[in-house]
Amino acid sequence: MSRFTTDTIERVRDAVDFVEIVSAYTDVRQAGGRYVGLCPFHEERTPSFSLDPGDKLYYCFGCEAHGDVFTFVGEKEGLAFPDAVEALAERYGVEVEREREDPRAEEARRRRARLGEALERTAGFYAACLWDSSEARRAREYLLGRGLGEEVLREFGVGYAPSAWDTLVTRGQRAGFGVPELLGAGLVQKGQKGGFYDRFRARITFTVRDARGRAQGFGARALRKDQRPKYLNSPESELYRKKRTLYGIDRARAAVAKRGRAVVVEGYTDVLAAHQAGIGEVVAVMGTAITPEQVQLLAAHADEVVLALDADRAGREAMLRAQRVAKGKRVRLRVAAMPEGRDPAELLAGESAAEDAPERFRELIDRADDLPVFHVRMLLADADLTSPAGRDRALDEVAPVLGSMADSITREELEREVADALNADPSLVARRVGAAERGGGEARAVRRRAAPASDGAPAGDGAGASEQARPLSARERQERALLAMCVASPAEGLEFLQRLTPEHLSSPVAVRAREWLAGHLEEPTRGLPRDDEELVSYVTRVVMEGEREPASREAMELNFLQLEQRLLERRIEAASRERGEAPVELQRQRAEVAERIARREAAG
Ligand code: CTP
Ligand code: MN
Repeated sequence: MSRFTTDTIERVRDAVDFVEIVSAYTDVRQAGGRYVGLCPFHEERTPSFSLDPGDKLYYCFGCEAHGDVFTFVGEKEGLAFPDAVEALAERYGVEVEREREDPRAEEARRRRARLGEALERTAGFYAACLWDSSEARRAREYLLGRGLGEEVLREFGVGYAPSAWDTLVTRGQRAGFGVPELLGAGLVQKGQKGGFYDRFRARITFTVRDARGRAQGFGARALRKDQRPKYLNSPESELYRKKRTLYGIDRARAAVAKRGRAVVVEGYTDVLAAHQAGIGEVVAVMGTAITPEQVQLLAAHADEVVLALDADRAGREAMLRAQRVAKGKRVRLRVAAMPEGRDPAELLAGESAAEDAPERFRELIDRADDLPVFHVRMLLADADLTSPAGRDRALDEVAPVLGSMADSITREELEREVADALNADPSLVARRVGAAERGGGEARAVRRRAAPASDGAPAGDGAGASEQARPLSARERQERALLAMCVASPAEGLEFLQRLTPEHLSSPVAVRAREWLAGHLEEPTRGLPRDDEELVSYVTRVVMEGEREPASREAMELNFLQLEQRLLERRIEAASRERGEAPVELQRQRAEVAERIARREAAG
């Protein structure tokens, strides 16, 4: 994808109403030049989220989530940067321009756009067929017979692919698409004798779309028992990557963001039945175990993902794989156990669906167990508890799972449950769990809400699993405060920026930030180089902090001197290590700086 011109990005930034965008997720109220509210990135009771309507930046003083209007929309709606720019451009009516790109990339992008168009037209055609063609009568009856109403079928564009061998081959070409394009879109395939024919025939079609609603491919269900396979999918292609898509994500996005929760089911019909029942935050993994890409996609707009997969063996394994996939991500995984042998479609829409099925389904979701809890119970259920050796094995298996859980009442109760089931002394269970924990069998699930600290220093994952960002060292706090003050009073700021040398600063990104600010002090966030994410994030934070930092020449001078003092101390230490003693000159300088600091502190 070619890059947007800088001008485009800035025009979009100028056009958007950041307060309006944020207000969809949290209530904010004006406080001076800023707006404040409860942070939409972590749970809190007192507002520490702050947004600047002019620069269109946000910063949470609690969890340190921060960024600009593009990262906000990206995080909240699960969009990559270019998609966030496009979505906002669309919403606020800004025309998008791109840099000239290298011809190959441009060609590939054009091609993808063409394939997308072919898919989009086909989706429309299939949907029309379902309702208008006489051939589709059986399909309509089948769907309606499964309790799926016309409204939801139309909303999701469920369709019907006619039985003829050449419907799309003919229609596609008539619409100006070449056979290679139809092949590339996975709509047509090559026959053994060389001709081309339609891939989907006499099937119900489900259009798979990306988060922004663009058609990526199809899943097509057989109607007759003898028709194989039951589901025929689009082949993997430039556009369709099953691993990266979730059926229904485009329709579920808003509900997921609003509830902070996504519900993952197995199949197309499960999604339709759930939406029809008013449960909007439901998406499907399409029969496979959830992938890291899918978890990522959901984690962008949900704190919590509830797996509502079949309780059979395959479903269970999929759930456990999910546990590995989610490790280190900030999302909480839970499992809603479906009643044996029934999927959500049956529960919610099937013939035997109870009147109060939607409420019951919601209850199942609300009461879902945390994945580790589910895992432990499953291990216990599968274990041979009749012999001491079997119980020992079970303890071996559950200890690391328990050890991976944060210290909590849930964990404590679960440990008790395990002790009961194994007929073991609770202190033995606790000891084994403790050992597993220290051995680090499973990394403790750390729930970080903010993007990992990206100021160059190692991101401590704080074994305490805190929601807060890594605490800064005194030196980092000082340099950041000074940079923030420079932004707050640019007139003096420039002088201090020039006095600061790379040696004063604690990390490469701080050095780059100093350099950037020295050249862009009037509008520090305009035109930040997108490819230096670290810099963008550092500067954003500094700018937001600048608005809270009371800046005075005095404070800046004091701050600068303290950094200077730290620098001299490092030099003296290095010299002593190398030569056994520090040069007198350095010691004199240190004494002088110390005295200047003392004078200022006494005066202040
Ligand atoms: N699936 C697939 N390819 C297959 C079988 C299944 O992609 N050959 C995916 C589909 O997304 C399907 C999901 O796995 O929706 C679940 O499969 P299954 O339970 O067999 O189908 P259902 O969704 O229950 O379909 P139906 O309710 O129509 O029987
Ligand atoms: Mn099913």
